[in-house]
Amino acid sequence: MAAESGSSRYSAEFDLPLRGDAITAERYISTAFMERESEHLWPRVWLLGAMVAEFEQEGDYVRHNLGKESVIMVRQADDSIKAFYNTCPHRGNRLILGDIGGSERITCGYHGWQYSSDGLLVHVQDPDDFPGGDPCGKVSLSEVRCETWGPFVFYCMDTDVKPLLEWLAPLPERLKDYGLDNWIRVMYLSADADFNWKIIRDNFNESYHLPTIHPELSTIINDGLPDTLFEMYESGHNSMWMKGHQASTRNPSFQSGEVPSPLDDVARAWDLDPADFEGRSADIREAIIEAKRRLGPERGYSNYVNMSDQQLVDYFHCTLFPNLTITMSPEQCQIMSTEPHPTDPQKCIFHHWVIVPPVEGMKEVVTPIGPVPMEWAEHRHSVYGDGQSVGFVADQDLSIGASQQQGLNSRGFNSCFLTYQEKRVQRFHELLNDYVDTDTINTEALT
Ligand SMILES: [Fe+2]
Repeated sequence: MAAESGSSRYSAEFDLPLRGDAITAERYISTAFMERESEHLWPRVWLLGAMVAEFEQEGDYVRHNLGKESVIMVRQADDSIKAFYNTCPHRGNRLILGDIGGSERITCGYHGWQYSSDGLLVHVQDPDDFPGGDPCGKVSLSEVRCETWGPFVFYCMDTDVKPLLEWLAPLPERLKDYGLDNWIRVMYLSADADFNWKIIRDNFNESYHLPTIHPELSTIINDGLPDTLFEMYESGHNSMWMKGHQASTRNPSFQSGEVPSPLDDVARAWDLDPADFEGRSADIREAIIEAKRRLGPERGYSNYVNMSDQQLVDYFHCTLFPNLTITMSPEQCQIMSTEPHPTDPQKCIFHHWVIVPPVEGMKEVVTPIGPVPMEWAEHRHSVYGDGQSVGFVADQDLSIGASQQQGLNSRGFNSCFLTYQEKRVQRFHELLNDYVDTDTINTEALT
């Protein structure tokens, strides 16, 4: 298994022992493994489905497809949100075919059965033609658990799984000072991609690839090993504190003290003169903390006041089991998830949201696809590789996905051989193994 030492920093409080299960290619390429996930994983986890702000009035709905399953979340008369399987109890027709919408009744397109927003059947054709009498008021859509955390709506198909906030622990507590509740989704992209959904999960569970896949980040994020703090939680989620507003110790400017671009622009944006930091560029990080405290509120960043110094300048990258990534900065939250393809284990659907705090007077905000209006974004779906970006850094990550998938199909690949800093990758797969619970898992220790 991965070595139990190394120069990377796992928090003493949030480190966990691992078994050393082998991570072979089967889980990325085989239909049998995908079916095990469909049966034992996806129905037993909380899944991000929507944002609370998408439900303005009773009857508003958001559909969420996941693999072969489809769930609809619907706003209720009391402002709560319920979720239902997107299938008509009559003969199984899918009820809602679009992503979002709203109406007083949910109507099946096949025989016109109608349901109220709480899922109760309220109208059928030929109500007297049922052996047991009119089914209206007696039949309901099959309900799925639905709970919210801050601005997010989650659903879970299992009744025994712990409540959402317990499931997410400790992240709701760790993220509360960012004040996410009223943030606006200004970017919503998704794309079909040619790799298994876990490829990107693994990628987000390590920062080992930053120097090679995202070299330009080394001018603004210190991705040097001892400077990045990793955490693994009992709940199965992981996180990583990436030191921001500082060049990487891997970047020549860190040693020379030269102020690299775009760190110089960021300094100017906070009324700091980069020339004052020549020879000591690492000090800009502290100066920006001070400038944000002083200037942030008058610039409309009312959420700064509750944040720690670390939150004001660093990136808190959280990987939630099984398929959700939340990357926090004080001015932007990126949410990325991968979802299984309905039938092909070698494909997935990638989702990328950007949410930002409302800042008075701000008309435009810079996102991973460039500047966008400071308003709720339309969903745009594409096929990865067709020329449409899913975000600059995400494009780089996805560019590796397809070639890794191809390599995993080789007879020459044995099993993953991980660094200590990739321990979160190992942790993810061991948890997954616990869910899919198969006697075919090869637990031979990696050497
Ligand atoms: Fe990456």
